[in-house]
Amino acid sequence: MKLMVVGGGGREHAIIRKLKENPDVDKIYALPGNGGIAADAECVPIAATDIDGIVRFARQSGVDFAVVAPDDPLALGCVDRLHAIGVPCFGPEAKAAQIEASKVFAKDLMKKYGIPTAKYETFSDPAEAEAYALSGSFPVVVKADGLALGKGVLICEDAAQAKAAVKTIMLDKQFGESGAKVVVEEFLTGPEVSVLAFTDGKCVKPMVSSMDHKRAHDGDTGLNTGGMGTVAPNPYYTPEVAERCMKEIFLPTIAAMNAEGRPFRGCLYFGLMITADGPKVIEYNCRFGDPETQVVLPLLKSDLFTIMRACEYGTLESTSVEFDGSSACCVILASGGYPEKYEKGKAIDLGGAEDAANLRVYHSGTALKDGALVTSGGRVLGVTATASDLPSAIRDAYAAAEKVSFEGGFMRHDIGARALKAIQK
Ligand code: AMP
Ligand code: GLY
Repeated sequence: MKLMVVGGGGREHAIIRKLKENPDVDKIYALPGNGGIAADAECVPIAATDIDGIVRFARQSGVDFAVVAPDDPLALGCVDRLHAIGVPCFGPEAKAAQIEASKVFAKDLMKKYGIPTAKYETFSDPAEAEAYALSGSFPVVVKADGLALGKGVLICEDAAQAKAAVKTIMLDKQFGESGAKVVVEEFLTGPEVSVLAFTDGKCVKPMVSSMDHKRAHDGDTGLNTGGMGTVAPNPYYTPEVAERCMKEIFLPTIAAMNAEGRPFRGCLYFGLMITADGPKVIEYNCRFGDPETQVVLPLLKSDLFTIMRACEYGTLESTSVEFDGSSACCVILASGGYPEKYEKGKAIDLGGAEDAANLRVYHSGTALKDGALVTSGGRVLGVTATASDLPSAIRDAYAAAEKVSFEGGFMRHDIGARALKAIQK
């Protein structure tokens, strides 16, 4: 079987490594892939947003199955276009990808179907948005409607910040057209949990839970990033919470998408907050999370390609989705300055960071220059360790991450610290 994976980050690297475990997989193309993925797949220099190029390549190379991993091509209808030429895919069609591509759509869906989430209103008029944001208590949260690389969410502590947030998103258009509409919502508190779930539009099978660390620096300081590290499982996701989530959130969401004529097939990501009133949805993503995938997939005992095909063909109910019960930690190594300005092209010394069976180095932003590995993005590498318990996974991930070096590189030193505290309580 010839597979095609659209995307080129750590998430895609983790997906490709897992897909390769299936003996029927003879060949994987990565579009565009990256310097590290090149060791596991054939990289093809076609951007993940070049839908025409992707479809042309799929036809010419005769791929048997496609995995579309990032949000942009999903929202742009990459899966719809591949389906139209007869290529089976893992990933939702554009009308289902709206659950991530439009926060207004997602919030209205939750309101209509009684799925627990923060109270909110949506606005396309800046004056009305501002008036509403100032009418309640603080903090208040202002969110750009569309895709904004995880940066379009502003938490406002007072009236001045709320006014500035509406201006930044709606008038200055700092996140482009994604700021034409905003969601203004109640600020929730509680631990956050990420749950990725496989679904074929009929049944839903959640993966092991995880915890992301979004801020750039230790102690949750600094700017929001795509994610600086993850651990799995998330200790706040107890069996009782999981049961409530299934009943109150996961199944109702799948049913709501069907009722709207937008059946969701692929990986649905539930960004949850466990509040005093129970679990609530902070956001949906229409895809695997990054770097959640780098801790979740190494713990998957069942075969990923079999599950992906079951999601596409509607046979997930009878397909096994099992995790091995161990723990994982992923520490991201980032370029100095990330998530703001950073330099690229720095030589990377991996230092034998992958020299044990429980270690994996996933490449996010790397390239090959004259055969040597160099940095090419903000998030550069994700060093993942698996172990029988979380403290060991964290210890091993950090020991391995310390071996890697490139000029200006940095990491957080407290990935998993909050999870450990929760376990020790
Ligand atoms: P999102 O992109 O919607 O996941 O938001 C990014 C981050 O902002 C989340 O991971 C939360 O930490 C925070 N956040 C978003 N919405 C809320 C809310 N209503 N209350 C508290 N924190 C929030
Ligand atoms: N790590 C969060 C995301 O993938 O959106």
